[in-house]
Amino acid sequence: MEVRRNEQRGRYELFDGNAVVGIADYREQAEDVVVMPRTEINPDRRGQGLGAVRRRVHRRTPGVRRDGRRLAAGLVEKRSVNAVVIWESVTGTTRKAANLVAAGLRAKGIETTVNSVTRIDHGALSAASIVIVGSWTDGLVFFGQKPGRQSRLWSLPYLTGKQAFVYCTYAVDAGRAVDKLAAIVQSRGADVLGGRKVHRFHLERDCAALLEQILQTVPAS
Ligand SMILES: Cc1cc2nc3c(=O)[nH]c(=O)nc-3n(C[C@H](O)[C@H](O)[C@H](O)COP(=O)(O)O)c2cc1C
Repeated sequence: MEVRRNEQRGRYELFDGNAVVGIADYREQAEDVVVMPRTEINPDRRGQGLGAVRRRVHRRTPGVRRDGRRLAAGLVEKRSVNAVVIWESVTGTTRKAANLVAAGLRAKGIETTVNSVTRIDHGALSAASIVIVGSWTDGLVFFGQKPGRQSRLWSLPYLTGKQAFVYCTYAVDAGRAVDKLAAIVQSRGADVLGGRKVHRFHLERDCAALLEQILQTVPAS
């Protein structure tokens, strides 16, 4: 078997003789990082095919990271859904909520990565079709509420083509913080499908409700 790079179609092709038995779309994320958001293997070749594409591309292609971390993060079989939960947090509540949501998604078979807004794994983000963004509520308790540290959120990478959900943790009254966060995430190119406020003392209850919203849109794999 042989792997060929098809520049025109932006993919690697795994050939068995003259037959294409597997493909892997690629995107050059950075100079030294190639991300493969989608692979397809002829169903007869499942089991051997995916590993073959991964190993061969990896071995033969200059520029693909040798540690394989980002490559592996982007290598998903067709129809599998990946998610990234991005959080902004001062005292840890929003991060905890992010981990709860991620655990719920993983329990449904959705490969999920959790990132601070200041340290985003671009490979995982590129491979994800769902993005959940959480922040905390900043305001004067009953008015002027907005997502905390908005400037960081405005600097999120472009999220074009991704489905997004948002949440804001709060202590007393979240006001319109969730709507404002949704507007920010939408402005980064995502399609925001839902969101909710998450009370800091009811994380499990409110994260479960958020998860339900997400899973209604995204069937478990
Ligand atoms: C400067 C500041 C302003 C806040 N303003 C509000 C507010 O207007 N309404 C509210 O319900 N909670 C408010 N909170 C509470 C936080 O939103 C809440 O505790 C949140 O869960 C903290 O998240 P973190 O632990 O991820 O930082 C405020 C907190 C801080 C530090």
